[in-house]
Amino acid sequence: MGTDEAELERQVRQGAAVYTPLFLPFYDWWVYGFAVRVMRCPPGEFRTFYELNVSEHHLDIGVGSGSLLKHCLRQQLLERVTLMDLNPNCLLAAEKALRPLPVRKVQGDMLKPFVMDNPRFLSVGLNFLLHCVPGSFREKGVVFKHIKDVLAPGGLVFGSTAIYQGGARHAPARFLFDRYNQAGVFHNREDTQDDLQQVLGELYENVEMVQEGCVLFFRASDAPLE
Ligand SMILES: C[S@@+](CC[C@H](N)C(=O)[O-])C[C@H]1O[C@@H](n2cnc3c(N)ncnc32)[C@H](O)[C@@H]1O
Repeated sequence: MGTDEAELERQVRQGAAVYTPLFLPFYDWWVYGFAVRVMRCPPGEFRTFYELNVSEHHLDIGVGSGSLLKHCLRQQLLERVTLMDLNPNCLLAAEKALRPLPVRKVQGDMLKPFVMDNPRFLSVGLNFLLHCVPGSFREKGVVFKHIKDVLAPGGLVFGSTAIYQGGARHAPARFLFDRYNQAGVFHNREDTQDDLQQVLGELYENVEMVQEGCVLFFRASDAPLE
């Protein structure tokens, strides 16, 4: 492994390492009770977005505490779920949140090809993941290629990401993003809506994006977006 690759690996692991068993019970309170408000995005938007896009055969990448999926489970929207995360603490927390639904767990880095048997998911969600991963969208957008490999024809990929460029126009959000980037928890300084549009547009026939405060919600599919 070269120096650049080793440094990237270090940064990727640092971005996922913050989700410790001690922090995870407070994750939802911190992110949906505080941080998204600083980003000027109402917390309810995330639950509605998941409700509208999740399917009965779903893969979730970067699962955190699993609370968005738990919300979907309560709405009886989930049947078969696979959880993928670099951090085993998050896989365990999300599995626990979804009990008694049986889930498949895959520990893996979204930047590397996915190792999964018999995939063909109807939906893949990656919420608040991209801003945790180093590189611009042109680099970390490789995840959408990996997703395409496990998506059923006409399946949907959807998610959201905290956007710095064009997003952090107001001081409190900029302050939060700067601290997080300094700490290596966020890597979104280079992220732009145009880059994400381009990366998704090269892989999927239909792409839709909506910005709410500093949060960019995206959906993409080869089928028409309903
Ligand atoms: C900010 S949390 C998002 C949690 C949840 N999706 C939500 O929206 O509340 C980021 C999650 O992505 C995971 N993660 C970070 N880098 C990753 C990577 N390179 N590959 C896979 N998962 C990663 C973290 O372990 C964590 O579970």
